[in-house]
Amino acid sequence: MAEYKKHNIYLQEGNGATKARGTSVSFKENGAHVVIADVLDDLATSLAESIGGRFIHCDVSKEQDVESAINLALSWKGKLDIMLNNAGIGAIDGSITSLDMEHVKHLLSINLNGTIHGIKHAARAMVKGQKGGSIICTSSAAAIMGGLASHAYTMSKAAMDGLVRSAACELGVHLIRVNSISPHGVASDMLLSAFKRFEKVNITLEELKGHIGKRASLLQGKGASAEDVAHAALFLASDESSFITAHTFPIDGGYTSAVSHMSFIYKDPK
Ligand SMILES: NC(=O)c1ccc[n+]([C@@H]2O[C@H](COP(=O)([O-])OP(=O)(O)OC[C@H]3O[C@@H](n4cnc5c(N)ncnc54)[C@H](O)[C@@H]3O)[C@@H](O)[C@H]2O)c1
Repeated sequence: MAEYKKHNIYLQEGNGATKARGTSVSFKENGAHVVIADVLDDLATSLAESIGGRFIHCDVSKEQDVESAINLALSWKGKLDIMLNNAGIGAIDGSITSLDMEHVKHLLSINLNGTIHGIKHAARAMVKGQKGGSIICTSSAAAIMGGLASHAYTMSKAAMDGLVRSAACELGVHLIRVNSISPHGVASDMLLSAFKRFEKVNITLEELKGHIGKRASLLQGKGASAEDVAHAALFLASDESSFITAHTFPIDGGYTSAVSHMSFIYKDPK
């Protein structure tokens, strides 16, 4: 992995739990000063300390919290170069015919409004800084293909991808790039708790990864890891992706692009 510009200021929302921990560490290892904003105070504080970063309590559904997180980055190092809107919650909603609208509103307040707040305030800081920047949102494979997540979650991520495109359109003139990464089946606390609830089995994160590799990846036996997601985020933050904006970047082992049920057709007919 090539290094991106040294000493960038990077702010990640939604970072305390499993998957994002790897992303913060990867950014630190690649020279960024990291600000972590999350609701998980203890976990995120110790993570921030371990990488020489800063932590701020931030509920992304509250615009004021997000603005304060950006202000922390600005007061610490005077600028913001990279923003990763990663905070999100999952949902098990069941049928569309019995969707609980309070639950939908709650999910959207975090997954969608949180992203709006993040893009809005990061863009303000980056426009003011006049040095461009990279805004990355964590969307989902569920926004590309139906049937991978609950209705509310799917909708929140599809709406996010629309916002990524429109924001990229407006902000391109300031050399601010806006993209999303769309992971699929990454063994995280969120996915593990959903899996346990549906499959009624008690498995570890490692076993979950193996399970996804077998059932939901074209790369036989390989499920996504936190590192796969971190590498994609690093690439989109780096100058190596300087001509990429307004796109969503699937990290899905090919799963949302092709099915392998009929791969017998590729066998030599002789
Ligand atoms: N795990 C997957 O397979 C997968 C697939 C596609 C997309 N995603 C997305 O990746 C992102 C990270 O999820 P994860 O799988 O690592 O799960 P996770 O539960 O391990 O991480 C989610 C993080 O978001 C934080 N968070 C939740 N609500 C928040 C709020 N209101 N304000 C601030 N922070 C908040 C949590 O504290 C946690 O640190 C989410 O946006 C999720 O939708 C995950």
